[in-house]
Amino acid sequence: MEIYGEACNNLEKIMKSLQRETKEKYGYDMINTVTSRIKTPQSILNKMQRKKYALNYKNMIDSINDIAGVRVVCPLKSDIKKIKRLLKEIPDIDIIEEKDYIRKPKKSGYSGYHLIMEIPVNYKEHDILVKVELQIRTMAMDFWATVEHKARYKTKNKLSFFDSKKLSLYAKILNLMDNKIVKIYQKQQKNLLKNI
Ligand code: GTP
Ligand code: MG
Repeated sequence: MEIYGEACNNLEKIMKSLQRETKEKYGYDMINTVTSRIKTPQSILNKMQRKKYALNYKNMIDSINDIAGVRVVCPLKSDIKKIKRLLKEIPDIDIIEEKDYIRKPKKSGYSGYHLIMEIPVNYKEHDILVKVELQIRTMAMDFWATVEHKARYKTKNKLSFFDSKKLSLYAKILNLMDNKIVKIYQKQQKNLLKNI
């Protein structure tokens, strides 16, 4: 857990410095918040049982990619692409998997962009690579996921069929708003350039 904590802190620091850099470069808060968390041992155990993995450290290290997790929330959907591009330029991190739940949202309605990264950690004078899951969401996606998580995800209370349908419809409405707001922003940017 110490090693995963260290990896989490390292990526959080990288994202916070990207937050400062983008603010300077683009003149607005392209990254609204950066948060991180470590999965509890109980939650790791539950996930391994849910996924039917034999309970040993090798399986945990190889298959549970979100023991360390960092989340970045941005105002605009278009910010996500920019952040992805900037991430690929950072030398210390390796992206080993990408899951695009924005292009293809989950059945629940969940959307977000996930990257599994390998972050170098120095532990007892050894350099090791540790997996960390980075989630990038817009504020609208984060709002939906937070509320839906409270209502359903990983809890025992089952939502009714109609309430699930409603939640996934609301996710679609929020996505529509995310798209519309990007359009307004881009129009403003164009007008700004015209007036220079
Ligand atoms: P998890 O056990 O959920 O971590 O699944 P996974 O390891 O197969 O990865 P997946 O890419 O499906 O989801 C990773 C993370 O995305 C989750 O830990 C949540 O933070 C988030 N997530 C995925 N699906 C949902 C969803 O339907 N609702 C909410 N609120 N969050 C979700
Ligand atoms: Mg997870």
